[in-house]
Parts: sequence; C-alpha cells; structure tokens
Amino acid sequence: MGWWWRLYWGLVVVIMMEVGGGHAEGVGGVTYDGRSLIINGKRKILFSGSIHYPRSTPQMWPSLIAKAKKGGLDVIQTYVFWNLHEPQPGQYDFKGRYDLVRFIKNIQAQGMYVCLRIGPFIEAEWNYGGFPFWLHDVPGIVYRSDNEPFKFYMQNFTTKIVNLMKSEGLYASQGGPIILSQIENEYQNIEAAFHKKGPPYVRWAAKMAVGLKTSVPWVMCKQTDAPDLVINTCNGFTCGETFRGPNSPNKPSLWTENWTSYYQVYGTKPYTRSAEDIAFHVALFIARNGSYVNYYMYHGGTNFGRKSSAYIITAYYDQAPLDEYGLIRQPKWGHLKELHAAIKLCSTTLLHGVRRSFSLGEKQEAIVFEEREGSCAAFLINNDTHNNATVQFRNISFKLLPKSISILPNCKKITFNTAQVNTKYNNRIITPVQTFGSANSWKEFNDVIVNFGDTSLKSKRLLEQTSTTKDKSDYLWYTLRFQHNLPCTKPILHVESLAHVARAFLNNIYIGSANGRFRQGFSMDIPIMLNKGMNNISILSVIVGLKGSGAYLERRVTGLTTVEIQCNKKVLYDFKNYKWGYKVGLLGEELKIYKKTKLGDAVWSKNRISTNQILTWYKIFFNAPKGNDPVALNLSSMGKGETWVNGQSIGRYWISFHDSEGKPSQIMYHVPRSFLKASGNLLVLLEESGGNPLQISLNTVSITNA
Ligand SMILES: *[C@@H]1O[C@H](CO)[C@@H](O)[C@H](O)[C@H]1NC(C)=O
Ligand SMILES: *[C@@H]1O[C@H](CO)[C@@H](O)[C@H](O)[C@H]1NC(C)=O
Ligand SMILES: *[C@@H]1O[C@H](CO)[C@@H](O)[C@H](O)[C@H]1NC(C)=O
Ligand SMILES: *[C@@H]1O[C@H](CO)[C@@H](O)[C@H](O)[C@H]1NC(C)=O
Ligand SMILES: *[C@@H]1O[C@H](CO)[C@@H](O)[C@H](O)[C@H]1NC(C)=O
Ligand SMILES: *[C@@H]1O[C@H](CO)[C@@H](O)[C@H](O)[C@H]1NC(C)=O
Ligand SMILES: *[C@@H]1O[C@H](CO)[C@@H](O)[C@H](O)[C@H]1NC(C)=O
Ligand SMILES: *[C@@H]1O[C@H](CO)[C@@H](O)[C@H](O)[C@H]1NC(C)=O
Repeated sequence: MGWWWRLYWGLVVVIMMEVGGGHAEGVGGVTYDGRSLIINGKRKILFSGSIHYPRSTPQMWPSLIAKAKKGGLDVIQTYVFWNLHEPQPGQYDFKGRYDLVRFIKNIQAQGMYVCLRIGPFIEAEWNYGGFPFWLHDVPGIVYRSDNEPFKFYMQNFTTKIVNLMKSEGLYASQGGPIILSQIENEYQNIEAAFHKKGPPYVRWAAKMAVGLKTSVPWVMCKQTDAPDLVINTCNGFTCGETFRGPNSPNKPSLWTENWTSYYQVYGTKPYTRSAEDIAFHVALFIARNGSYVNYYMYHGGTNFGRKSSAYIITAYYDQAPLDEYGLIRQPKWGHLKELHAAIKLCSTTLLHGVRRSFSLGEKQEAIVFEEREGSCAAFLINNDTHNNATVQFRNISFKLLPKSISILPNCKKITFNTAQVNTKYNNRIITPVQTFGSANSWKEFNDVIVNFGDTSLKSKRLLEQTSTTKDKSDYLWYTLRFQHNLPCTKPILHVESLAHVARAFLNNIYIGSANGRFRQGFSMDIPIMLNKGMNNISILSVIVGLKGSGAYLERRVTGLTTVEIQCNKKVLYDFKNYKWGYKVGLLGEELKIYKKTKLGDAVWSKNRISTNQILTWYKIFFNAPKGNDPVALNLSSMGKGETWVNGQSIGRYWISFHDSEGKPSQIMYHVPRSFLKASGNLLVLLEESGGNPLQISLNTVSITNA
C-alpha cells in the first residue's frame, strides 16, 4: 500500500494531561489550551523534527541536532526502541547508539525540546514494530489489546523508561527538555480488529501512562474516541487540507508526523517530495490554527544490523532535510528554514490574534490573524495549480504564484512564498577513495549447505520460521531426504513461501532461488533431475526483517508452507507432513566470523577468491579515508547479503532486487566514521546470491554548496 494509506490512517494524536487542561502554573510545566501547547506559561508554535537515535551514532548526534536547530526547529522527536533496550526480559541495554539519555541530554544542551514517543509499539519501519521477539513466546499474549500478559510487559517497559527519564531529571517539569510523551502509536487503524478488546485497552493505556505522573502531556496517536483531555493531531502529507481539527475546542491542533518523504522498500525508487509542496502544507496547517508540526523524518539515517522491518531498505528517509549521512539536503532544508523564520516573526500574533478567513477569488483565500493592539499577520493562499493570481488585499495588489501560500507577518509585505525557492539546490558528491580490485587481498569462506543428516532439530511438519529462529537469524534451513522410486521424466520442485527469499539445493547442488515483494508471498517451480534412490533437498528460507505493522503481529506466519515434487502438474511427493530437519542460521553467523577475534574459527581461502558464488563470506582489511567526510561503500557489484565493518553490521544489502527501471533500490551503504579506525579496518560481507567483491569501492560523501 502507498502513502495514501498512511495518510488516511495517520490521523489522531491524543494528549492527556495528568492534571487536566488549563494553564500550567508551575515553572517548567507543560500544558495546553485550544490554541497551542503552553510552556512556562507561554503559548508556542513549535517546529519539530524526527531523529531516531539508533539510526545514527552518538558521534553524529550533536551535529544533527545543531543542523536541526539552525534549520529553525524547536523540538526533536524520537521513538523509544523497546527491542534494542530490552533484548531479554528484565535485561536492559542503553549503551552506544542505544544511549537514549545521552541523546536527550545532547538535545537539551543545544536548548531544544524533546517529544518522546515511548510507544512501546512504534511501527517506525523497525523490526517487529519495536517489540522484542521474546514477547512472542509469552503464553497467552495478544499484543496491543486488553490482554493481561501484554499489558504487564507494556507497563513494565513504559515504567522503566519513565523512571529512567525522571531519575535523570529530563521532564520539563523537572527542568528537562521533554515536553510531550506518547503512548501507543496510530492504534485506531487496527482497533476494530480487536473487537471488544480494543476500547478497554485504549482506556487502560491512557490511565496507565497518566498514572506514571510525568507532569507533561501524553500523546496517543490516532484515537478519535480517546478519553477527555486528549488532543487529536494529524500524521500525513497534507494535514492542512485533510485534518478536521481537534475533537474539542480546548485542544490544540498538532501535526505529529509530517512526512518529508516516504520509506522505501526493495524494488522501488526513492520517494521525493518537493520543498515547495512541504512548505505549502506546513504553512496551510499553521494558517488553519496548527501550532505544532513535526517532520517525519528530519533525519532518517541508517537501519543498521537486521533492524529494518520487512523489505525496508537500509537507508531510511535519505530524502529528508538532513540526508542519510547527516548532510544538508537543499533546497529542502533551507526553504523550510525560511518558512519557520517567517512564521516565528509573527508567532505572537498567530497565537493570540483573532483569526478570520475570506475569499480573494475563485481559488484564492486570505487567512488573517489580528490582535487588538493592531498587529496583524496574513497567509494569502493561491490554490490554483496552474496560474498566477493577482489579488487585492488591504488595498494592496499582490501577485501570488500557482499553488502557493504567501506569508505576510505584518499583513503588508510578503516575506515568504512557499513556491518561491530562494535556496540553491545542492548535489551529493561521491568520491571514490579506494577500490578493492586485487583478488589476492580478499579471502573467502564458503558457508555450508546443510543436509538433513547435519540437523539436530527435527519435525514431522513444515515449521513456522520466526518461532523457530526466534529472530536470531534471517536464515532457516529446511532439509529432508527421500527415496525416489516413482516414474517421472520431468520432475518439478514446487515451493510456496510466506518468507521473503528461498534458495533451493538438491544433492548439494544449487538449483534456484525466488523472492517475494513487500506484502506478497511467492512460489517457485524448478525443474530437477532426481537420483534413483536417496536424494537430499535443502531449502534456505530467508527473511528480510519482521513485519512491523498491523493487528495480531504475534500470529504472523512466515517460512515455507508447501514443498512438493510435481510430475506433469500432479503431485508426486508431498512433503508438507514429512520428516524435516532444521538448522537456524548460517555457520558463519554461528561462528561470528565478522568479528576480528573470531576470524580464525573459519577456514578462509588461501588463493584468489571466486566471484558470483552463493553463500560466500568475503573479508579484506582497509584504511579509513582521510578527513571527516562521511564514508560509504559502493556495493553495486554485489547481490544480496549483509556487511560488517570491524564487527559492526552496517545493514543488509539487496542489490539484485531491481525497481521497475531495472535499478537497485540502494547501492551506497553508510559506514559511520565512528566504526572506523585509521588503518586495519576489517570489512566482511556475507554474499548470499552471488556477487563480485572486486568491484566494491570505498567512497567519501560530500555535498556541493556546503
Ligand atoms: C519488570 O519486570 C522485571 C522482570 O522481568 C522485574 O524485575 C521488574 O521489577 C519489573 N519492573 C516493573 C517496573 O514492574
Ligand atoms: C509536512 O510535510 C510536507 C512535506 O513532507 C510539507 O509539504 C508540509 O507542509 C508539512 N506540513 C507540516 C504541518 O509540517
Ligand atoms: C481557529 O481558532 C479560532 C479561535 O481562535 C476558531 O474560531 C476557529 O474555528 C478555528 N479554526 C479552525 C479551522 O479550527
Ligand atoms: C485546493 O483545491 C483542491 C482541489 O479542489 C482541494 O482538494 C484542496 O482542499 C484545496 N486546498 C486549499 C488549501 O484550498
Ligand atoms: C507567474 O509569474 C512569474 C513571475 O512572477 C512567472 O515567472 C511565471 O512564468 C508565471 N507563471 C505562470 C503559470 O504564468
Ligand atoms: C481601502 O481603501 C478604502 C477606500 O479606498 C478604504 O475605505 C479602506 O479603509 C481601505 N482599507 C484598508 C485596510 O486600508
Ligand atoms: C545426502 O546427504 C548426506 C549427508 O547428510 C550425504 O552423506 C549423502 O551423500 C547425500 N546424498 C546425496 C545423494 O547427495
Ligand atoms: C558504484 O560502482 C560502480 C562500479 O562498480 C560504478 O559504475 C558506479 O558509478 C558507482 N556508483 C556511484 C554512485 O558511485
């Protein structure tokens, strides 16, 4: 489904006040009225941007935050990533890229606010929507519904995070930067699936969150029926046009996810949204009483490791105002900065003035805010997509560009027009620093094709993949052996799968692969030659991230669903209920041979490496490029797999999955500077489908007009 789906459903945020509505008295308190959030007793128009701390590195955070601030943002919004922080029940991890407290303190140090979306269901194109996989094995659990086991773990984690924030003094009421907090996430679009178990869950979540006494408002996405003291906000592309406003006059109009682009799945092109279009919809939202706008994403970053959800590529919202590498993307960044400045010039009038709107023509409209003392601010809208319009406003003639909003902070002079981009475009410059063309510098290790005889886990049926792997690996071997004694001249191996890729082997020989696409399973039919007597079949079933959205995630089924050998379209052997042997993961993964200390556990080739070979690990050492520019690997010559630098995964790659124009969705892969040392860096690739490492290059990334 496309962005429209997200738009349709990306609707409502709910704010629940612990103390009720009305104005906050206490220093550092946050409350709201029908116009805006109120911080330290003052109404505020706030521009916010999403930056997710694990999608970059602590070394990048200060500069990302500084660029966001310089771009005119007041708030950084982030989700909290449960499956990173609680990998096992009661075992917590807040180190390195997962150091949430450090991230928030970095934001505070630069004088910005934080909107903390705890969830703990977050979707976010993140593996399993942020849930730790161990939740799956909690008896009787039904996620995101009125279900005791789920509520227990949700409350446990939410409490853990809130207590952590409190103990570090990070809530606004404590003098910290957190002004808003979110519980749940876009729940209403799945609520109906839970029937009677939905509404009590919403009430419980609200009450539980409020009971944690953070003294800053909680937001709850997409909950038009939310309890009182709750503010609806909008997520989407065009909230100025589609959002029907808060569900009570006492609640401000907030836009929590303004999509600067859209997430990208394998087999598709990047979605680019123009600076003009974004600016138009933000200006319109503000003109229509909006007081909080969040850009989703302001910096997308990188899905390191195996953390993206099903089919999501490794780069995340590279088209955002700050690109994957944290470099400024123009004109988006600059145009929005000017927009923010124009609105800030008249924010007092916008927040305290009386709003009127009137027509200036068939497709033209004026929205005017006036205060008693005479201050005045105006938005002149030309909704004609094709033609300039000349309008009279307060006895002055103005020319309005097609599909634009002009901002007049004093009602006299246009200081900003959404369609007039003054910022120069910039381009990304990729500079190759090194190629890895010397076949003798590489070493390879061929992973093992697992046969039935090599497996210890057996079952008389086809097992569901993730409940078998526990998401410890993308890979599960399905193996069997059988006696072939029926006549057939042209047998076909027929496989149906709800996983993402299958690679089949017959008697240790690779015979073929197939893959699905975003939200689509697949099947494959491979002509085979069987031995008379015993044959081995091994199928490597591969997942590219767990599904991260939808109701009843705990019931999702993946892996092989049918394996048979057909003869003249008839089933010759049906292996559905057959004796299968299973192995989770690849040998190289088990040995962790992507780590320098474990390299010796594999037998690496002595001679030249081979190319275009399946299930092969490659390794090489390299020196870091000089300087401070971001670093990226060009993997265009590879197929599908995962890459590690000094033992840290920089993510999955899938070059061989082409878009409609025959191009890979992503070829450049970010290697954060902090993963590198000056020399002797270990690069390890697991190539699953066949590629040529000799054509990989190491590059620096920069921009023109920096
Ligand atoms: C959360 O659960 C763990 C056990 O998994 C327990 O040790 C801890 O006390 C619980 N915390 C809260 C706040 O309930
Ligand atoms: C939301 O973002 C879009 C582009 O991503 C932009 O056109 C629009 O103005 C923004 N609106 C708000 C309220 O941020
Ligand atoms: C905007 O707020 C004013 C009060 O300041 C109210 O009269 C008006 O209906 C609101 N407009 C929208 C579109 O919510
Ligand atoms: C502009 O026109 C389109 C098409 O008629 C309409 O859907 C949209 O709401 C209008 N927008 C504004 C800001 O008037
Ligand atoms: C609108 O006016 C600008 C100059 O202000 C001009 O460059 C542009 O071509 C005009 N557009 C149309 C569609 O007439
Ligand atoms: C516009 O001009 C008319 C007469 O020419 C005058 O009555 C009116 O007050 C003027 N309006 C403004 C806002 O200056
Ligand atoms: C099948 O696999 C076993 C190891 O599990 C091996 O000993 C045997 O030779 C294989 N048979 C064929 C026909 O490849
Ligand atoms: C990536 O490398 C290939 C050669 O393997 C080259 O043709 C291509 O231009 C490079 N792409 C970029 C963006 O540098």
